Amino acid sequence: MQDWSKDPELRVQHLTMRFGGLTAIGDLSFDAGRKQITALIGPNGAGKTTVFNCITGFYKPTEGMINLRHADGTEFMLERMDDYIITQKAKVARTFQNIRLFSGMTLLENLMVAQHNMLMKASSYTIGGIFGSGKFKRAENEALERCKYWLNKVNLMDRADDPAGDLPYGAQRRLEIARAMCTGPRLLCLDEPAAGLNPRESDELNKLLLSIRDDHNMAILLIEHDMSVVMGISDHIVVLDYGRKIADGTPAQIKVDPAVIRAYLGVEEDEDPGENIVVAAAPAKVAKVSVPRVVVQKRVAKKPVVKKGGRK
Ligand SMILES: Nc1ncnc2c1ncn2[C@@H]1O[C@H](COP(=O)(O)OP(=O)(O)OP(=O)(O)O)[C@@H](O)[C@H]1O
Ligand SMILES: [Mg+2]
Repeated sequence: MQDWSKDPELRVQHLTMRFGGLTAIGDLSFDAGRKQITALIGPNGAGKTTVFNCITGFYKPTEGMINLRHADGTEFMLERMDDYIITQKAKVARTFQNIRLFSGMTLLENLMVAQHNMLMKASSYTIGGIFGSGKFKRAENEALERCKYWLNKVNLMDRADDPAGDLPYGAQRRLEIARAMCTGPRLLCLDEPAAGLNPRESDELNKLLLSIRDDHNMAILLIEHDMSVVMGISDHIVVLDYGRKIADGTPAQIKVDPAVIRAYLGVEEDEDPGENIVVAAAPAKVAKVSVPRVVVQKRVAKKPVVKKGGRK
């Protein structure tokens, strides 16, 4: 049995999501290990974001089961739960493919709003609870401490009072991760966190995600086209194509899997065997991945593999 299947945080079984005649996900099963980074990769339209939308309750799956099990043994059948309960009780947090911050609010405000549920609970949902009890004050102080911790962690403390919309793109992505972490999740789902980042920012993102996994014992589910991130930090990779799983394994296994190379990483025509391959991807992205004998080519509008240079 693979490492990630021994005591998985998340178990997806026979997940199917149809939109009318289109099967966006077809009979997908995979496990995401506790304290592991599991990457979900595949060409555009493969169904990756749809998987996140099913896990987080935004879509109700047509068929299948999504089981989340916390380390203390508490289990949740996510496919039966509403999205806000999934956030509050099952403790699943996510970031979005297109950044969704409150751009007119400061960084600190964005992180405080994310903790609104915990604060309301501490107030017993009454005005008396807010003004009258030490419990609310304590919860508010803890929430502020959490903000401080995550602002430091994502290197944004000096921008705490600036509007989120004023941040450069890469910093907004980090703030989204900080906001998700402020909710105290057990499973963190990141939808293309490296999109638009330059190589230095990607590198920082790698370090941040490894630290979240190791220092906070988190299970991370990562959708990403940037192979320097995927291959660099994933413990386990699941590859989708047209909504179906075509491979599931360690980065080393996935890199050389013929089905993955055919569907996603590209087709052979290498004249420099054994070398790292530099791949032209989308215009802003150039990818570098160690796939001997394979030149990675863009199959669809968006690109698998990423960067060497990129935006500075
Ligand atoms: N609400 C919806 N209604 C109809 N079709 C949808 C809906 N959501 C997703 N789809 C379709 O499901 C398929 C999978 O989409 P999805 O966004 O999950 O792909 P993806 O792997 O995340 O792609 P990308 O890498 O471009 O983000 C696509 O064909 C998409 O058009
Ligand atoms: Mg997507």
